[in-house]
Amino acid sequence: MQAPRVLSLPEPCLVVLIGAAGSGKSTLAARLFPPDAVLSSDAYRAVVSGDEADQRATRTAFAILHRELDRRLALGRTTVIDATSVTPFARRGLVRSAAARGVPAVAIVLDLDPQIVLARNAARPGRVVPADAVRRQLADLGRSLRLGVLDAEGFAAVHLVRTPAELDSLAVTRPA
Ligand code: CTP
Ligand code: MG
Repeated sequence: MQAPRVLSLPEPCLVVLIGAAGSGKSTLAARLFPPDAVLSSDAYRAVVSGDEADQRATRTAFAILHRELDRRLALGRTTVIDATSVTPFARRGLVRSAAARGVPAVAIVLDLDPQIVLARNAARPGRVVPADAVRRQLADLGRSLRLGVLDAEGFAAVHLVRTPAELDSLAVTRPA
């Protein structure tokens, strides 16, 4: 088994999970953080429309997510964003909200082999995202990583996770 990789997170901080559908963001968030700290775009879609896969609910879902994020940051509460966040546009508002509240933003990038991501998405119980959409997300993520854009977006740290073993062994510590 792989030695655990322990990320040292500032407290409080904003954690932005970045990865295509099926890469394991929600699984990771549920393992590392308390449920109330995790704001999920899918969960807000479900609140808005009764269906977590309803893309028509996206705009309203993100409006609620951003409002809730700002509320938590204002209280100095560490918050995790569980959304794909594979484009600069998607990340910009999150990083800005954190900066406005003086809270550092940390990126955790799930940059797994595309075949693994596509297979996990296809095999999962319940919601399966169309493969074309996953491929687009993988392409967007690849662009962000290749061009080094992510490093210039204002994150205090960018942590890359490249393999399923690394993902499964990832741990976080926070100062007491
Ligand atoms: N999975 C897995 N091993 C992991 C992480 C995830 O087998 N270490 C599986 C999950 O059980 C799930 C699928 O991969 O069936 C996708 O994981 P999920 O956490 O749901 O991915 P997300 O990135 O949250 O996908 P989405 O953006 O669509 O919510
Ligand atoms: Mg998810």
